[in-house]
Amino acid sequence: MNNESIVKMGHDYVMNTYSRHNFALVRGMGSYVWDADGNKYLDMVAGIAVNNIGHCHPKVVEALREQAGMFLHCSNLYWIEPQVKLAKLLVENSFATKAFFCNSGAEANEAAIKLARKYSYNKYGPGRADIISAANSFHGRTLTALSATGQEKYQKGFAPLTPGFKYVPYNDLMALEEAVGKKTCAILLEPLQGEGGVNVPDPGYMKGVRDICDKHDLLLMLDEVQTGLGRTGKLFAYEHYGIIPDLITLAKGLGGGVPIGACIAGGTRN
Ligand SMILES: Cc1ncc(COP(=O)(O)O)c(C=O)c1O
Repeated sequence: MNNESIVKMGHDYVMNTYSRHNFALVRGMGSYVWDADGNKYLDMVAGIAVNNIGHCHPKVVEALREQAGMFLHCSNLYWIEPQVKLAKLLVENSFATKAFFCNSGAEANEAAIKLARKYSYNKYGPGRADIISAANSFHGRTLTALSATGQEKYQKGFAPLTPGFKYVPYNDLMALEEAVGKKTCAILLEPLQGEGGVNVPDPGYMKGVRDICDKHDLLLMLDEVQTGLGRTGKLFAYEHYGIIPDLITLAKGLGGGVPIGACIAGGTRN
C-alpha cells in the first residue's frame, strides 16, 4: 500500500483521536525512517521521546525476537526473569527500592496516584487524598491521569473527571505552599515540562518543592515518562536538582517502542 491508500483507510476505519500527518511510516533504522512511498526522513521526533537509541537497534531487535520465541505472556501469577532483572537494574541505578510495571506512562501515573493515596490512607486514614499538579502539565490520557493534567484543552468534554486534583503555576513555590491543605497527600510534577512547552524549573524550585513535601508529609512524585532514561543528560532528570523524590514514573524510552511503564519508589518512608 502507498501513503495515499493507507491514509485514506486510516480516515475510514481508525477513530479520529489524533491529528496525523498525511503519510504512513513503514520502517526505521537508527535515526532515519521511511514512508510507504519510499521517502526517507531524518527522525527528529523519536516517537515523542520513545526511540532513545534509534529505530531497530540490533540488540533490542534480537532481545525481542528471542523473547517472542519463548513466550509473550504468562500473567502476574508467576515471576519472570526479565521483569525481576529490570526491577533490579532500575533500583540499583536510582533512589528507589522497588519497581511496579505496567504498559504505559498514563498507567504508571495512575499507579503513582493510587500509591500516594494508599500511603496516606494507611498513615492518616480516609479523606487525605488530594494531589497538586502543575498548570501546563501532561500526565496521560486515561481519565485519572487526565485529571492530573493541568490543561483544559485535553480535559474538555470528558467531565466528570476524577476528583481531588488542584493545579498551580509551575515554578511558583508560593502558589504551591498556598495550595497545600489538610487533604493534600502528594505533589505530582514533571521535573521539566515537555508537552506544555519546554519549561525548565528555576534553580532552587525542585529543592523548594521537596522542602514543602517534607514539611507537610506529602509524597513528591516526579513524572519522568518523558525526561527519564537519559533524555536530559543524566539517567533521570531529578539527578540535576540535588533532591530525592519519593517516587518517579517511567515509560516511553524504557521500552524503546514496546509498551511498558514503571513506577519506582523509595522505601525510606515509614
Ligand atoms: C510527561 C508525560 N507523562 C505521561 C505521558 C503519557 O504516557 P503514555 O503515552 O505512555 O501513556 C506522557 C506522554 O507524552 C508524558 O509526556
